[in-house]
Amino acid sequence: MLDPRYILHTDADLAALSQSAALYWLEQAQQAIEQRGVFHVALTGGSTPQPLYRLLARPDMTERIDWSCVHIFIGDERYVAHDHPDSNFGMARDCLLDHVSIPEGNIHPIPTHYEHACEAAEQYANLINAIVPLSGGQAPIFDLIMLGMGDDGHTASLFPGTDILRCDDKSVAAVYVEKLASWRVSMTYPCLNQARQIMVMVSGGSKAAILAHILQKDSETLYPIQAVLPTGEVHWFIDHAAASQLDQSSF
Ligand code: 6PG
Repeated sequence: MLDPRYILHTDADLAALSQSAALYWLEQAQQAIEQRGVFHVALTGGSTPQPLYRLLARPDMTERIDWSCVHIFIGDERYVAHDHPDSNFGMARDCLLDHVSIPEGNIHPIPTHYEHACEAAEQYANLINAIVPLSGGQAPIFDLIMLGMGDDGHTASLFPGTDILRCDDKSVAAVYVEKLASWRVSMTYPCLNQARQIMVMVSGGSKAAILAHILQKDSETLYPIQAVLPTGEVHWFIDHAAASQLDQSSF
């Protein structure tokens, strides 16, 4: 049985799934602002979300929410300067943040100026805890956390075989990713799994086999993204190429 928290949205291609995902994102923002006066959201990095960010930056979309009630965080970051081409924050700025009327004080990038990523992770966790409401277990309760999925089943910077997968006492941690030969700072499972809603965007045939495993009933936990099981729902936005190996009877 497919995890009851999983809600699947399938669209023909990345453009169509970005449109669906944008409407869902705005709906979550509107609900949070109506109910609690604020929308705490963590953006994902990578290439998949870029069309979504550009859609959200369009005037007919930006006008639908009060951006002064939005607090933007980053789910994970490559440990490079924010103006480096690999920076997730730099990408989010280019595609979205420079085009919406959000107060600068509501934009919270992961700092990457400390000598070591571990210090950046600690500082970021402290920042999150000062802004985002905490659960009884002292984990931040984000209204929405956005995620992608790599073709190895990683999400955020929770890569297979890395120590961060075992981190259960911090919301944010640093991780050295051998196969990328680089440091990352990432939200951890305790943080992700406290979110009210999670959205995962998956596009392209290279992820079809892993997605078919993950979204089949009773599948063995082989990939980091399968341990993302929040208190709320996980909305999967997938295009037909990524869904091409799904057995329609499995969900
Ligand atoms: C990152 C992301 C990462 C990403 C996946 C998918 O820093 O790269 O946070 O988790 O979501 O690697 O990346 P694509 O969207 O580029 O396929």
